[in-house]
Amino acid sequence: SYTPAKSDKFSFGLWTVGWEGVDVFGTAVRAPLDPVLAVEKLAELGAAAVSFHDDDLVPDDSRRQQVLERFTKALADTGLVVEMATTNLFSHPVFKDGGLTANDRDVRRYALAKVLRNIDLAAELGASTYVLWGGREGSESGGSKDVHAALDRYKESMDLLCAYVREQGYNLRFAIEPKPNEPRGDILLPSIGHAIAFINGLDDPELVGINPEVGHEQMAGLNYAHGIAQALWHGKLFHIDLNGQHGPRFDQDLRFGAGNLREAFWTVDVLQGSSGGPGYDGYVHFDYKPPRTEDLDGVWETARGCMRNYLILREKVQAFRADPEVIEAVAAARVGELSQPTLGAGETLDELRKATYDPDALGARGLGFERLDQLAMDHLLGVR
Ligand code: GCO
Ligand code: MN
Ligand code: MN
Ligand code: MN
Repeated sequence: SYTPAKSDKFSFGLWTVGWEGVDVFGTAVRAPLDPVLAVEKLAELGAAAVSFHDDDLVPDDSRRQQVLERFTKALADTGLVVEMATTNLFSHPVFKDGGLTANDRDVRRYALAKVLRNIDLAAELGASTYVLWGGREGSESGGSKDVHAALDRYKESMDLLCAYVREQGYNLRFAIEPKPNEPRGDILLPSIGHAIAFINGLDDPELVGINPEVGHEQMAGLNYAHGIAQALWHGKLFHIDLNGQHGPRFDQDLRFGAGNLREAFWTVDVLQGSSGGPGYDGYVHFDYKPPRTEDLDGVWETARGCMRNYLILREKVQAFRADPEVIEAVAAARVGELSQPTLGAGETLDELRKATYDPDALGARGLGFERLDQLAMDHLLGVR
């Protein structure tokens, strides 16, 4: 059991298993990974799809045709699909002050052209989501960035990209990925909430949602499960980046389930739709970095671990929700009562104001939340 199937819709970025381990303090610890090998191995492990940055797949433009031919053949041979694509607007020195919001207009024009080119490839390969992670959009110092103008330029680019996708008739939606900091000191659109508010100001907000990453919200001390629940409420959870993180510190990009395990449990609960609300039915995409301690065998262990942990947690969540004592504790905690409108059908505000309340008695009622949470702990720890 805990063996992934295509129907589980697990997906991996080529840059995850392909991460060579270059970090701020050290050089590469692993050799470049052939995307074809990544596709073959991920298929063997039970994944259903992959995603890529333009530069992950085609690092050298002179070999573009050849690389794409080998890659599409590997997809056909394994049955894996490309579900998402994105643009590297962060590695090259040209993007040191950002791509779509760089102060330098020539840089912005180059960045937009780079995105457009890879959107064409994404559509050709059948991707349904196009992610924009603006890791370099931001600043280290206050006076260097006119945030108002930067947001105008961000919007301008998103509006142009949406219009392009409509014109071409591509079956693609955009997903903005928030992050509070790293590599920039402060990144624009730092959280789920900032990104959703920004999207509502675009010309074509229907075409744009978000791609929240577990660790990015947790770096800001935020609750990821609550964040994606709100994104679902807005109809904006177009895609997800699952990984692991130990609270507010540098972006750890651990495999899913590592780091904050309790929040991983509630995350799966929200994604499954078992906590109330609609749930998520897109690809379960992992964006993590196999630690530098691992050789290639260790890399495949981390990929296996991401999927295995998701399947274990899904089983735990299902058992928790089906447990009669949990069902009773949920009712005792009045969880279902929250779905009842506060004002009765046909009732007036006047009637609500005139009703009798006993705040002292209401305030004296216990809610039993701790008992409910302990039941979740017992399930998570495998003693129920
Ligand atoms: C991060 C980000 C990136 C982006 C990816 C897509 O960990 O800071 O998640 O990995 O998701 O590069 O552009
Ligand atoms: Mn990350
Ligand atoms: Mn990510
Ligand atoms: Mn990442």
